[in-house]
Amino acid sequence: MNNAFTNEEYTVMINAALNQAVPLCGDERDAVTKAMRYSLANGGKRVRPVLLLEFNRVCGGNVTNALPLACAIEMIHTYSLIHDDLPCMDDDDFRRGKPSCHKQFGEATALLAGDGLLTLAFSVAAKAPLPPENLLPCLAVLADTAGYRGMIGGQTMDLQHEDKAVDAELLRATDRLKTGQLICAACRIGCLAAGAAEEQVAAADAYAESIGLAFQIVDDLLDITGTAEELGKPIGSDAEKNKSTYPALLGLDESRRLVQELTQQAINALSCFDENSFLIGFAEKLANRTN
Ligand code: IPE
Ligand code: IPE
Ligand code: MG
Ligand code: MG
Ligand code: MG
Repeated sequence: MNNAFTNEEYTVMINAALNQAVPLCGDERDAVTKAMRYSLANGGKRVRPVLLLEFNRVCGGNVTNALPLACAIEMIHTYSLIHDDLPCMDDDDFRRGKPSCHKQFGEATALLAGDGLLTLAFSVAAKAPLPPENLLPCLAVLADTAGYRGMIGGQTMDLQHEDKAVDAELLRATDRLKTGQLICAACRIGCLAAGAAEEQVAAADAYAESIGLAFQIVDDLLDITGTAEELGKPIGSDAEKNKSTYPALLGLDESRRLVQELTQQAINALSCFDENSFLIGFAEKLANRTN
């Protein structure tokens, strides 16, 4: 088995690789590269790339070879946040502890910065030094989970549900796509890049399915009970937009109980991995996070 890493060690590697992945052009195009770098820069928790790298490790993969895929998933996630904050979507002015991309650079540049990160993600991912038979399925997962069958589909449903009464089933379906699918992609790609066995990929999917939903429920809870300082983004945004969320539907206590249940389900899914202590601790940390 490859050496274990701490969350901190993974984060340092990811931040350094992201910084290198978007160099300035030295010409007018830097209007957009500066905005891309601004939104990517430190402040994000790097949940998805860390999951990708750890699943890759426990499946026998090499961290250096998987790092471009980790950067790609963080670029896609960051683009989704830039667009999520736009006035035509959630209309939020702060992200990752600083003004949102459109507040800092204007809407047109924020739109282009998102587009730039989405496309760059595939360029970076396609150049990962991995055997083509491992890499190609990773690229397909990236495209499918980011697209209308995945995150974009979920964001579309989320917008349609504003000011509407939505039942638990529809809310679950929405969150599964808008947040769950990129988290699933991270776990699955980590396995696929290492050429993992089918049983391991299925276990990663089951883990991701549970922590993915728990992650959005905690995000919704923190929008009510968190602080803008700790979160680095505004609170009360969901209520202001009359969003359909778990706390709005089930209340705080039942939502918290569901997070614990889902976290236990995620942990139970890890039994086929010999080294699962990082992933167990990670699921618990995400359930109890305050940012
Ligand atoms: C926020 O994601 C948006 C959701 C999908 C809930 P994160 O909480 O992972 O945001 P960063 O990357 O740490 O900023
Ligand atoms: C966003 O969910 C999910 C994305 C795909 C970006 P939210 O709209 O709740 O995320 P925050 O609270 O703005 O980070
Ligand atoms: Mg949103
Ligand atoms: Mg939002
Ligand atoms: Mg939110």
